[in-house]
Amino acid sequence: MKNPKRYTVTAALPYANGPVHIGHLAGCYLPSDIYVRYLRQSGKDVKFICGSDEHGVAITIKAKKEGVTPQDVVDKYHKMMKNSFEEFGINFDVFGRTTSETHKENATEFFNNLYEKGVLTEQETEQYFDEEANQFLADRYITGTCPVCKNAGAYGDQCESCGSTLSPTELLNPQSTLSGATPILRKTKNWFLPLDKLSGKIRSYLEQHKDWKPNVYGQCMSWLNAGDGLQPRSMTRDLDWGVPVPIKGAEGKVLYVWFDAPIGYISATRELLPETWETWWKDPETKLVHFIGKDNIVFHCIIFPTILMEHGGYILADEVPANEFLNLEGAKISTSRNWAVWLHEYLQDFPGKQDVLRYALAATMPESKDNDFTWKDFQQRNNNELVADLGNFVNRVVVLTNKYYNGIVPQNVALTAEDEAALTKAREAVARMSAAIENYKFREALQEMMNIARTGNKYLADQEPWKMQKVDAARTEAQMFTALQIAGILAVAIEPILPFTANKLRGMLNLPVVLEWQKAKENLLVGGHQLNAAELLFEKIEDEVVKAQLEKLNASKTIQKSTNVMPAKDTVTYDDFVKMDIRIGKVLTAEPVKKTDKLLQMTIDTGLDKRTVVSGIAQHYTAEQMIGKQVTILVNLAPRKIRGVESQGMILMAEDADGKLALVSSDDAELMTGSTVA
Ligand code: 2FM
Ligand code: ZN
Repeated sequence: MKNPKRYTVTAALPYANGPVHIGHLAGCYLPSDIYVRYLRQSGKDVKFICGSDEHGVAITIKAKKEGVTPQDVVDKYHKMMKNSFEEFGINFDVFGRTTSETHKENATEFFNNLYEKGVLTEQETEQYFDEEANQFLADRYITGTCPVCKNAGAYGDQCESCGSTLSPTELLNPQSTLSGATPILRKTKNWFLPLDKLSGKIRSYLEQHKDWKPNVYGQCMSWLNAGDGLQPRSMTRDLDWGVPVPIKGAEGKVLYVWFDAPIGYISATRELLPETWETWWKDPETKLVHFIGKDNIVFHCIIFPTILMEHGGYILADEVPANEFLNLEGAKISTSRNWAVWLHEYLQDFPGKQDVLRYALAATMPESKDNDFTWKDFQQRNNNELVADLGNFVNRVVVLTNKYYNGIVPQNVALTAEDEAALTKAREAVARMSAAIENYKFREALQEMMNIARTGNKYLADQEPWKMQKVDAARTEAQMFTALQIAGILAVAIEPILPFTANKLRGMLNLPVVLEWQKAKENLLVGGHQLNAAELLFEKIEDEVVKAQLEKLNASKTIQKSTNVMPAKDTVTYDDFVKMDIRIGKVLTAEPVKKTDKLLQMTIDTGLDKRTVVSGIAQHYTAEQMIGKQVTILVNLAPRKIRGVESQGMILMAEDADGKLALVSSDDAELMTGSTVA
């Protein structure tokens, strides 16, 4: 859209199930913040909308893990995320929550609207059900193998490894994350968005946006053009956490989190602007831009626009600049493995250095492919670019002006062609920076920003005012005046990427707090203007600091590992121990116990006798694998009935904290059946 009247810019609502890390920042929040800061500085009317995504299985799983309620989880992380964003200068106009009353009403209105128009189709389908947990398993409650890339840890709704959006029944070897059991299929009623029937409309919307980033447009097309095309998608779930489905017969069901979450953008806008929110969502002259990560593409480019189109009266996204993923030190960022740089921890370790991280992340932003953040690169960018180029230039200019002229900008200077050329060069970089930001090329924008500083440094190095000062005072004044104007240009241009530094620089140069983008075209520091004292904008980061971060990262991996070891049990006496009669036995027969996934019934030769043992190892060993195996067996355990079969002993197994089992047997020699173990 050319020359929109205003911009509604959204950043994906992060799940309120954990703190924010650098992957979040680089993927979505930093690019959107840079874009919005630039728009605001350019005098555009813009609202920057975000909030926390507080529904869905991501939250209930976390609550279960922490032993608290889902509400406790979202209260804790909403606050924490909001703080982190504020600390890093991510300047949302509103940071809402999808558990708010406004949102509940808004999402309900959307569902009712579609339901009453007959858009949603009611369907009884078979969904996975966990018999042990007595619960239907939606989305992330099921894991299994991705049918596309064969990643073993894919979720029921999505494979994070290849980005495919899945439905639970597509997973190979599905497993309940609640109990580990293999789920069964059970009938249930849900309400579907018939994407198949609506695909013509979706296609014509998408075809108007061939200019979208290739990764975004390509993913949408591969969905549309997949073998059997778009499939109906359920907009409701059999869960107890979420916005209740507002129709009769749907008791105990909630709206699908991907139905309600994007509507959350609208709800947050309504909370921010109760009177005028519609202008930001309904006026065709408003440009709607969604910043997201690549795993959210289908929801923002296909599902949400379909919901909006079917509801009617809403504008659709004009741009969806999705980023790829950021890795850390060569490995995928992982919350569960604690392989991440958490923003709240960064702030403790690097107080006041938010801009260094913003800079390093903007420089390595995964714009067109996955990219890697390393601490070494972070250090080098700080030391060789921020300190050596930007900080050094500004410092020299301000220190020399204070030294030569008591901080007063020289007046009535006569600029030469060289001076004008340096200023033009700096201003051309600003213009290229604008174009880059407008085209969502933030890494390029960062390079142009640094080109301004480099132009300034080169100018000083060529002109050497510190030498000229001894021979020609008037020429030195023109040189210093020129260099000062470049510092002024920087004070404007670094604001989107480095807002904290921009603030400091404006203070040093004694410039107004708000500097419009077009001010970069002017000589901002007029003759006679008084500067303030010089302050260092950046400081060197030493090797030890980086080493400490790497150690911390690796240590957290070790701690994580060691917590996976089962806690130690209480001490037993020797007398207790020798009471146990443990022997080597041989499996003679083995068969699965009917109607169970986990149990094998075996006949074992213990040397004393041949007896029946039932063991929960079927998910680790097949009956065929067990026949003929030597096992270690506790033979004097009191017999007990398991699923109607009397088990007369227990096979000893090694088990890790993830529940993986392995037989305890000797690799050294085949032992005589009946040998005792002590
Ligand atoms: O992937 C996620 O973290 C989702 N919570 C993003 C939601 S974006 C929007 F639709 F709310
Ligand atoms: Zn996959």
